[in-house]
Amino acid sequence: MLVVHGKPVVKTPTMERVDALAVTGGSHLHGSVRVTGAKNSVLKLMSASLLAQGTTVLSEVPAILDVEIMAELLRRLGCQVNHDLSAGTVTIEVPEVLEHRADYDLVRKMRASICVLGPLLARCGQVDVALPGGDNIGSRGLDMHIEGLQRLGAQVRSEHGYLIATGAELHGAQVWLDFPSVGATETVLMTAVTASGTTVIDNAAREPEIVDICTMLTAMGAHIEGIGTATVTVHGVPELKPVRHRTVSDRIVVGTWAVAAAITGGDVVIENAHAAHLEIALDKLVTAGADIDAGSDCIRVRMDKRPKAVDIVTLPYPGFPTDLQPQFIALNAIAEGAALVTENLFEARFRFVQELARLGADVRTDGHHALVRGRARLSSAPVEATDIRAGAGLVLAGLVAEGTTTVYGAAHIDRGYAGFVEQLQALGALVERV
Ligand code: UD1
Repeated sequence: MLVVHGKPVVKTPTMERVDALAVTGGSHLHGSVRVTGAKNSVLKLMSASLLAQGTTVLSEVPAILDVEIMAELLRRLGCQVNHDLSAGTVTIEVPEVLEHRADYDLVRKMRASICVLGPLLARCGQVDVALPGGDNIGSRGLDMHIEGLQRLGAQVRSEHGYLIATGAELHGAQVWLDFPSVGATETVLMTAVTASGTTVIDNAAREPEIVDICTMLTAMGAHIEGIGTATVTVHGVPELKPVRHRTVSDRIVVGTWAVAAAITGGDVVIENAHAAHLEIALDKLVTAGADIDAGSDCIRVRMDKRPKAVDIVTLPYPGFPTDLQPQFIALNAIAEGAALVTENLFEARFRFVQELARLGADVRTDGHHALVRGRARLSSAPVEATDIRAGAGLVLAGLVAEGTTTVYGAAHIDRGYAGFVEQLQALGALVERV
């Protein structure tokens, strides 16, 4: 029999398919939690392994669904992939000859699959990647990826739902990005490392995950200058070699735990966390009233009062990360005062606000602005997670809502947070998978 918080629940045939978390509000989170490697880095590192024939080993790999999807994609390209969950490693054996097609059934499950675009073009001279289409946080174009590849000498066309790029002789070029897109920077980088001559990427993204992939590519033999700056110069080399690489810590998961501590009035030590990757977000938490002690690789977050509302403006790194916006809206929903939240990256990211309103939050949106007026209390309700970070935001709100909130669509959360339920439970939260 299914039991939720001590009460038996009668199962119906439809409930067998339900995938949800039951979150009971009221606990203060206490203890320590360890964060592993960043989802948004490891997927790209797995893709970068395609650039070198032989065995690449990645460590600090999170046990999340997206890593399994990427592993399956690499297998279909001809690689042998072993994900050792207990060791947190992924071993990828890349053959001399690769397939060059990423099918729709995988790309539709995980948009980040398009990160194989650059490495496959570089290795095979051709790549066919299914167009991902829109997703739950907006339309997300590929124009800068395409223009970057064209500048490096590729011919790119779209046919039958696939983006097809060909180019046997890729060459260095000047690439100006209209916007410091994380994905486009990575596509150009991974294509340029083995192209002939020098590529300069201007207005490049500067996220820690970009630094991570540049660090791995450099260890593989690539020549990259200006790593972590807006102008990245790549001097092409004929070939790369496989390496062992440790994935950078997931700053978004760290930020989620930091908000979890603050919103619940808790005291949490977050291990394997780099405060330097989260400066603005941590500063916002201090403004909200939290005490933060940052060590060399851990962060302690304490809160002993109702938070104060904090304004947020999402921007590319080092600005406030869009991936922490829903968690901060949840914090503002129970804060003292009102806050204006501006979303500059993904137009549909406020969709989750309607779910938060079901918990009693007072949030009004107008275009890419949301006005959040803090309420003294939220009350539980069934809600639906529409994407990974919306899911995290709803769980955090559930931790402070009176009663038991059911967050449906928990699979979204599993895509980005390894062992989230178990870690929440270890910190004293009343959370169960139903
Ligand atoms: C990555 C992250 C995502 C994060 C985002 C911004 C991964 C798997 N995902 O997404 O979690 O929220 O960075 O930090 O790493 N755009 C275009 N044309 C392009 C490329 C992007 O218009 O060719 C637009 C997008 O629609 C979006 C904005 O640029 O509005 C930012 O996109 P980008 O930085 O590329 O994000 P992703 O790499 O998709």
